[in-house]
Amino acid sequence: MAGFEVLERDGLARLGRFDTPHGAVETPALLPVVHPDPDRQPVAPAEMRERLGVRAVITSAYILWRTPPLRSVAEAHGVHGLLRFDGPVMTDSGAFQQHAYGSVEVGPEEILGFQGRIGSDIATVLDIFTEPEAPHDEAEAALSTTLARARAARSSRAGLLAVPVQGGVHDDLRARSAAAASELGDVLAVGGVVPLMEQYRFVELARLLAAARPRLAPGAAVHLFGTGHPMTFAFAALFGVDLFDSSAYHKFARRGSLLLAEGTVALDELRDRVCYCFLCAEKPLVEVAGLAGPDRERRVAFHNLLTSIEEVGRVRRAIRDGTLWELAERRATAHPALRAGLREAKRHPEVFLPTEPESRRAFREVTEESRSRPAVVRFHDRLDRYSAGRTDALTIPRIALRPEYLEHVPLEDRSGQPLFWKADTPLGQVPVELLDLYPVGPYLGIDEFLRPPRHLPPSRLREEVARAVGDRADLGRNWAADWTRFQVSSLLAWQYGRAIATVLAEGLEGERSRRSGRLRALRRGGAILLHVGTDGVPRPTFRGAGRLHEVLPPGRHRVVVADDAAPFVSAGRSLFSRFVVSADPALVPGASALLVDRSDRLLAVGRLLLAPSEMPRLARGVAVRVSAHAGAPEAGEREDGPDGPELAGGV
Ligand code: GUN
Ligand code: ZN
Repeated sequence: MAGFEVLERDGLARLGRFDTPHGAVETPALLPVVHPDPDRQPVAPAEMRERLGVRAVITSAYILWRTPPLRSVAEAHGVHGLLRFDGPVMTDSGAFQQHAYGSVEVGPEEILGFQGRIGSDIATVLDIFTEPEAPHDEAEAALSTTLARARAARSSRAGLLAVPVQGGVHDDLRARSAAAASELGDVLAVGGVVPLMEQYRFVELARLLAAARPRLAPGAAVHLFGTGHPMTFAFAALFGVDLFDSSAYHKFARRGSLLLAEGTVALDELRDRVCYCFLCAEKPLVEVAGLAGPDRERRVAFHNLLTSIEEVGRVRRAIRDGTLWELAERRATAHPALRAGLREAKRHPEVFLPTEPESRRAFREVTEESRSRPAVVRFHDRLDRYSAGRTDALTIPRIALRPEYLEHVPLEDRSGQPLFWKADTPLGQVPVELLDLYPVGPYLGIDEFLRPPRHLPPSRLREEVARAVGDRADLGRNWAADWTRFQVSSLLAWQYGRAIATVLAEGLEGERSRRSGRLRALRRGGAILLHVGTDGVPRPTFRGAGRLHEVLPPGRHRVVVADDAAPFVSAGRSLFSRFVVSADPALVPGASALLVDRSDRLLAVGRLLLAPSEMPRLARGVAVRVSAHAGAPEAGEREDGPDGPELAGGV
């Protein structure tokens, strides 16, 4: 409810944090499942923290409650005292154990009160675990009970509360469950999915996450119960899962299985030394295989936890770099079931598009299925609007948008009628003037090497152009300057619409990089109004924002700042979400926006971290990062340096 803060993001995935009485949890995080009985726990929580940097764990309040000797220790010394761990401890209510083993019943108030008494940092509502096979009426009845218990729990607990999201495989119930949980929980814990994980039913998992995710409050942490195998972490993170819990590290160790991000390996089949981590430096896995039961299980469990935590680190780095789709696609090659799940995810672009960033540093193709990522879906939607009414485009090979090519491509026929050009790209046909735009511009895939567009000699291009237009156009003339003007107005039309672009383009001159020949800045009267990054997107300087402010209708491309924050924003400080009055709903994370006060006075220009729909729902953290303001109007401007100064800091 209150505390989740987004620090970085890639689509729905976030690097975030929230506070607990025992310190902050930085997400995405793996909460190792710790058995409350120290004799049954292969790696002590303190050792997890010291050797693997584990900051938070989850344990079963239910097992504690029903095991009298443990229970009395926990009641006397708290769950932290019992576990000898002073970091955040989440407790689960036992819904899963009661469902799976049909064991001792405990009442919802009883187990919630118990979690409070033992000092749990995040207590979980006792939900009804719903099997994927449960028919609609049964799942619905169970959900009503879960929600009634969640409402009661909220009114009796002041501390952090995890509210499970159930509903089986029924989309409407998952959606309803997600919306209701969002009103009550600090942690929204998607449950009932263990059978799907165990049976590799990732298509159904993707479907239910697609149903639930858009209704989950952006200001709460999202937990996925039972996300144990590291192979699935990137997939879960794509759907915005912030917390994984793993008992898999121990479960797989019991049967001698090694967890790797690429899949599972049987310890006994290992003949070669495959890992050189610090545990393997002590004793290589091939030797661990020959150890006696408990020592072997302990070492395998520790190793499984290590590989799981490494994968969380990779997921975090991918979120920071904007490469989570790449990572998820690479992980999906581990198993066809996971590939199928990822393909199902891509069938729900509406889930991803509201938070899909305007652009990323690169678009790296992993397989041909990479071509259906949400970024591509959005690009084609926008292309359809951009190209409406333009059916007569001529085709040339894909070229770099530099003068030595463009000079050969006529923009008008001999009677002054415009000629439009398009090129075949791995992402489909694209108007030539837009070839630098993300995702086609910074695209890297096998086509680059099979049919390298960069190696096309200008003379070959001239022949292709002549073949396309014949003598309808003047091929003797140098068209480079016309192209720069055309590209400027086209980019503005792409970004702001044709009507605005016509006004904006007046007096605007395109400047090409001396090094690469690419369009890199738009100037008026010598001053830079917009930079063009390596993602091909034009982004305003403060001066440019002033010009945009004159020509864009009120509200458009704007974020309105509350009076209290206006002086800080105009001095260059980030805009926090609680000071956002309103934001143009057409904006997306990473997009540039004009920051204005309530009377539409321009304060600064910045880039969104949050989607507009998230801003009013996140009580904490930054909504927009200021890139230039009245005090430093030319921030980000430089001479012919590396292209795309605005890309630094990468949202
Ligand atoms: N552990 C694994 N799945 C579940 C679930 O659906 N609910 C709860 N409370 N715990 C779980
Ligand atoms: Zn190792």
